[in-house]
Amino acid sequence: MCGIVGAVAEREVRDILLEGLKRLEYRGYDSAGLALITTDATTSDTRINTVKTVGKVNKLVTATTKAKASGRIGIAHTRWATHGKPSVANAHPHRSGDDIALVHNGIIENYESLRTLLKKQGYRFDTDTDTEAIAHLIHHYREGNKHSLLSAVKKAIKLLEGAYGLCVIDNNEPDKLVVARSGSPLVIGVGIGENFVASDPLALGQVTDRFIYLEEGDIAQVERESVNIWHKGKKVKREITTVAHQNNDSDKGRYEHFMLKEIYEQPKVIKDTLDGRISKTSVLEQAFGIEAPGLFDKVTSVQIVACGTSSHAGLVAKYWIESIAKVPCQVDIASDYRYRDIIVLPGTLFITISQSGETADTLAALRYAKKLGYVATLAICNVATSSLVRESDINMLTMAGQEIGVASTKAFTTQLTILLVLAIVLGRRTGLKPAAETKLVKELHKLPSIIEKALGLKKQIKTISKQFSDKHHSLFLGRGIQYPVAKEGALKLKEISYIHAEAYPAGELKHGPLALVDNKMPVVAVAPNNDLLGKLKANLSEVSARGGKLYVFADESINFASEKRLKVINVPSCSEVLAPIVFTVPLQLLSYYVAITKGTDVDHPRNLAKSVTVE
Ligand code: F6R
Repeated sequence: MCGIVGAVAEREVRDILLEGLKRLEYRGYDSAGLALITTDATTSDTRINTVKTVGKVNKLVTATTKAKASGRIGIAHTRWATHGKPSVANAHPHRSGDDIALVHNGIIENYESLRTLLKKQGYRFDTDTDTEAIAHLIHHYREGNKHSLLSAVKKAIKLLEGAYGLCVIDNNEPDKLVVARSGSPLVIGVGIGENFVASDPLALGQVTDRFIYLEEGDIAQVERESVNIWHKGKKVKREITTVAHQNNDSDKGRYEHFMLKEIYEQPKVIKDTLDGRISKTSVLEQAFGIEAPGLFDKVTSVQIVACGTSSHAGLVAKYWIESIAKVPCQVDIASDYRYRDIIVLPGTLFITISQSGETADTLAALRYAKKLGYVATLAICNVATSSLVRESDINMLTMAGQEIGVASTKAFTTQLTILLVLAIVLGRRTGLKPAAETKLVKELHKLPSIIEKALGLKKQIKTISKQFSDKHHSLFLGRGIQYPVAKEGALKLKEISYIHAEAYPAGELKHGPLALVDNKMPVVAVAPNNDLLGKLKANLSEVSARGGKLYVFADESINFASEKRLKVINVPSCSEVLAPIVFTVPLQLLSYYVAITKGTDVDHPRNLAKSVTVE
């Protein structure tokens, strides 16, 4: 997704901007660019120098060096195309005349009417983007040099409908960055005699650890020695937060891809997620904040909202919350939730799940939910400083560390881990006995080592992955709580190997999808040792009878035997409650190795972005 970096300093800022863009690379993008205000050494005249390229940031580095672009103030951007194809023209920064340059994250919904309006004023449009209209609008409100850049931006944003994080420079005021936030995150990095702007603090880890998080509707003027912020026309003060660990984990170490590294980190990050949250025998619920226990006391039902992989975590959690806590739980996709009429039962806890905490649909759902009378809002998130966490009443952070691979792996299993802890916390209030809690907590303690064992399946999975490389379609089957696990397995496979993969509850096969099964269709099934095993086996026989090739990930205690056209992969034995987390791991490895066999760009799958900050 798009990324913004800006800097104003006494020193040269070009490399700061480029390093910032590199740190944002993992979010996915298709083009990049920067604009620097360059001062002529002899005349002291200034001018804006813009360099833009399609493709990776390295290309921009080369082009910037070639163009000898330099400056002490500048803005930079990585773009993920929404309006108009990836091209040099459509890449940011966008210009209006010689003086204004601007970078933008988000989507302007009324850009067509703005274009019409501006064309009537004599502006010419050279790109297909929504952003170019903002540049011209600001230029228009400058009225030559009659109004300052700040007041022109203030006027311009009044006309914008949609979402934006903006950073603007003006050659007439070559010492200022003007930024505005509405629906797209922006932070100001505070330095000594220099200041910075970014859409994610991660981009500025090399220059500062002190940040001001702009709030919705904030406008700021950032100069070398000062930061001034306005909100609804009034000057406001915003707190400076120190953020440790501005390291982007950008080292793949001995792994070929971030995705594989992140799959292998799971035992550790699950342990980190449990640390301080459980004792040997019980959950330490105070770890979730002082208000949390009081809020949990009021909960009689749960509404979960999330997108993609995070929504699969929600679907698994529904089973845990209903079986352990006996509390009804509903799960919605964020992009649908916000557009339907919601009936909120008294005592309902609203939960969002998100790795990034910046997913536009999930954030919008949270904002919508806050008006609906939920008992509280809880964010389950991997980024402590994200908008989602900051805007929720309470949070339970996953400790996955930064996830760089676009396909989510360790974020998912840590989300599941914390959701199981949550089910126990809620269960305490609805009759879960201390002995039953202790049993569950002891299971949680075993989780990292079982996952470690599951990673040992790598070699076997690598071998079978070769049988998928010429396939175009596949089916994933699971029953009950394993159905969302099958959905997650199918999502991983399609995302990174581009093989069409569909997940079905195994009991639904005969109601339609069985028609797809022939000897070319690989069918993947997850078979933990639970009460539904007999029924699952019957469903698998339906596949075998139609000549389908089965790959069954089965709990080793079942002693499921391989046969002709049925390959059993024995998964380390685990309790029923842990099975959704444990069985996820071999499915991640399967998708990874199929993608490797096919030679796709595993960490940056086509058309996808890491953090989806547009609707
Ligand atoms: C899939 C994947 C996505 C995300 C989804 C939500 O591997 O990563 O489906 O899960 O875009 O993102 P977050 O969790 O950041 O809200």
